Amino acid sequence: MAKNMLIAGNWKMNGTHADLAGLGAFAGLADRARDGVSVALAVPHTLVFSAAQLSADTSLSIGGEDCHHKESGAHTGCVSAAMLRDAGASFTILGHSERRADQGESDADVHAKAEAALAAGLDIIICVGETESERDAGTAQSVVGTQLAGSVPDCDTARLTIAYEPVWAIGTGRTPTPDDVAAMHDHIRAALVSRFGEAGESVLILYGGSVKAANAEELLHVSNVGGALVGGASLTVADFAPIVEAA
Ligand code: G3P
Repeated sequence: MAKNMLIAGNWKMNGTHADLAGLGAFAGLADRARDGVSVALAVPHTLVFSAAQLSADTSLSIGGEDCHHKESGAHTGCVSAAMLRDAGASFTILGHSERRADQGESDADVHAKAEAALAAGLDIIICVGETESERDAGTAQSVVGTQLAGSVPDCDTARLTIAYEPVWAIGTGRTPTPDDVAAMHDHIRAALVSRFGEAGESVLILYGGSVKAANAEELLHVSNVGGALVGGASLTVADFAPIVEAA
């Protein structure tokens, strides 16, 4: 039986309202995806409301790329989970390595944000992944294990997705070998099962990092890969469509 999958795009700091003219085509991909395949787009905060409105009657889910850990208050420039929900988001990405690096987010920060997101009614995609030097040092699995233990809150696992994104594969055109992806995804699965018991078996574990048409099929068929978190190739429907179709 074909496995359930999520193909999620992450627009990062890209896109203006002009780009939402193409959203109908993304929604069409979601509507036509095979049974068991969900399609989602995480967009900049400024686009969440409009994107959610435009995709309201479709199967495309719209989410944010981060949220603050507090509900409201004196936090200039920040956006709370409740605000994202109010704007129409159904999920948010948390702990992306770009935020861990650029904003210095720790596992504890991601954990707090995840609790806030869940409390506000958002599902969560928590990102983990090692740097190149950590992989070279042979510590990739322990780094990811520590990130998981520190970032993932106790929760209803139906609302949790993990994205494994090796930092060195993001935006570089380089990807781990299928064997390396399998080893890490099996490791993440084992950690989820040890933490959540049987419920950990059904958490989707996405692979992210230079996913594109040419490698999607191979990566999506690796053991314990439950979909993809796609950056650059999610910016146009022409690049994104073959990835959804490979799922
Ligand atoms: O979150 C997605 C991401 O970091 C991967 O980006 O551009 O390598 O697909 P990209």
